[in-house]
Amino acid sequence: MKIIIKKDYEELSKVAASIIGDELKSNPNMVLGLATGSTPIGTYNELIRMHKEEALDFSKVVTFNLDEYLNIPYSNPNSYHYFMEDNLFKHINVKAENIHIPDGNAENVEKFCIEYDKKIEETGGIDLQILGIGENGHIAFNEPAPTLPLETNITELTESTINANSRFFDSIDEVPKKAITMGIGSIMKSKKILLLANGEKKADIIAKILKNKVVTTHIPASLLLLHPDVTIIMDEDAAKGYLE
Ligand code: F6R
Repeated sequence: MKIIIKKDYEELSKVAASIIGDELKSNPNMVLGLATGSTPIGTYNELIRMHKEEALDFSKVVTFNLDEYLNIPYSNPNSYHYFMEDNLFKHINVKAENIHIPDGNAENVEKFCIEYDKKIEETGGIDLQILGIGENGHIAFNEPAPTLPLETNITELTESTINANSRFFDSIDEVPKKAITMGIGSIMKSKKILLLANGEKKADIIAKILKNKVVTTHIPASLLLLHPDVTIIMDEDAAKGYLE
């Protein structure tokens, strides 16, 4: 596991975007795994800048998002469909038909989950997956649990995640309690993974993972220790516990 510590969020975002940009230049057809949440916004802003100012070309890129809430209208700014359009897709030249986001409104969600994994495989698998991390160690919506499904699945969000996500909603009651998420296996099959973490709130979980050197489904992100090509990029605040 490679660890990169940058001074602040801006620097972290620049490094993450430049790694993605380099990958994209060497493989214009790359399959890019994307995350939502606050963490990757700076990276997406930098990618948008690179597209506009340096002609970074997304025309052949295929994207797969990690997750989406269940039964949320995509016109709702809190849906991940809306988030991706607003924070990245509408600003770059990715083709609409190359964008994949779990469909939380699918008629048959179970069937959709199976087809989502199949589609990832058919494209040749994810070349580079971007991940954020929850304060409880979740990745995508794989929440701490005694066992974790390998494949894309429907999952119940934990109280800690509902609380963390409530900052985007008018009230906690409006936060969806279920979501579709890529499974741990779907994520671990990615050829390369970039885990981004910023801010003090992430310091404890990052320290636990990097210092304990133990894998447990109770900290889903700890399973990344088993992956052959993971880079963690964090700012000094998120690295505090690790550096202590
Ligand atoms: C989002 C996702 C989540 C977030 C995590 C951190 O697609 O998969 O696992 O990465 O909840 O969220 P932020 O970045 O808002 O702290």
